[in-house]
Amino acid sequence: MPAIPFANPKAQYLSRKREIDAAIVRTLESGRYILGTEVESFENEFSTFLGVRCCIGVGNGTDALALALKGVGITPGHEVITVANSAVATVAAIEQIGAIPVFADIDEQTRCLDPQEIERLMTSRTKAIVPVHLFGQPAPMEEITRISRNLGLKIVEDCAQAHGAEIQGKRVGSFGDAAAFSFYPTKNLGALGDGGAVVTNIIEVAEAVKRLREYGWTERYVSSRPGVNSRLDEIQAAILRVKLPFIDADNARRRDIAQRYEGAMRAPKITAPPRIPGTVSVMHLFVAKSENRKDLSAYLEKQGIGTAVHYPMPIHQQPAYVNRFRGRDRLPCTESLAEKILSLPMYPELTEIQVNSICAALKNWCEEGRD
Ligand SMILES: Cc1ncc(COP(=O)(O)O)c(C=O)c1O
Repeated sequence: MPAIPFANPKAQYLSRKREIDAAIVRTLESGRYILGTEVESFENEFSTFLGVRCCIGVGNGTDALALALKGVGITPGHEVITVANSAVATVAAIEQIGAIPVFADIDEQTRCLDPQEIERLMTSRTKAIVPVHLFGQPAPMEEITRISRNLGLKIVEDCAQAHGAEIQGKRVGSFGDAAAFSFYPTKNLGALGDGGAVVTNIIEVAEAVKRLREYGWTERYVSSRPGVNSRLDEIQAAILRVKLPFIDADNARRRDIAQRYEGAMRAPKITAPPRIPGTVSVMHLFVAKSENRKDLSAYLEKQGIGTAVHYPMPIHQQPAYVNRFRGRDRLPCTESLAEKILSLPMYPELTEIQVNSICAALKNWCEEGRD
């Protein structure tokens, strides 16, 4: 493992070990392990944090997307517009409910769905759109919402990488008909195992998702429609409740680290992620751009600095999805970005010494005339 690992979820556990251990013991001793007071309290606390009416804890972020889509009325055969520069999970969730993904290109600045693409891709089968707030940067929801509403599309936001991100002071997750969050351990709000949530301002959608996550039950042992088993675990909810009060401070620390990286890099050798006016990114990942990312990553690895690429292969080029979905033949921005991006370590527990070493390495690489 490099001296400065690319990700370090254990460091976050250790930084709040006492409170997390106490929360786990409290849950174990409660005798209630499925859908008890921890999940219910977390659902209330997370909806308050986001400024939405309802939150439903589920098993993971992929299920959250699938259940949110189902909850807003998407059924097998419906087309759902999304992007190909996301975690494969976004597309897996659409397929999980029998719907059909359609790929829109991204905007070079936001690296999120380009709203101009929506109309071009519409057919009579298109019923929903899943904008992904990628790398912690909000997608342009104002435009996406305006266009989608005119076209009668449901909106399900993929917020797996954007807990706490804002557009004009409003948190992402509160713009669409529903939104999905992941609490995978490395996320900005991460559990110590799998976890996810659907949030919505629409009571009927919340009620549908609540039933769907537990066998379609309207009451115990009575299923009103086919559902699944995808419940947020009591222990994970208790852990998330410990971490939630710190998320704004953690996100601010991420932005502070991002600013330091930015100061150390020289364009055009390395370009920092663009800043989008009116939005607050939560810097889930710091995704730099370089024409020579291979050399840059090899150099950083030699200095003991872990890096990664998110994602080396856009979804439409992955073996499971190649040649399958509409939109795949016109994604120039998506494809060009995938060749140049490199993610640097980005988590609040990075020490000052570690941040300084990363900055020094970036500066050296830029100054050494390597390109
Ligand atoms: C953009 C995006 N969507 C969805 C997911 C799915 O979340 P999970 O891994 O909790 O299923 C992830 C996380 O991997 C993600 O990054």
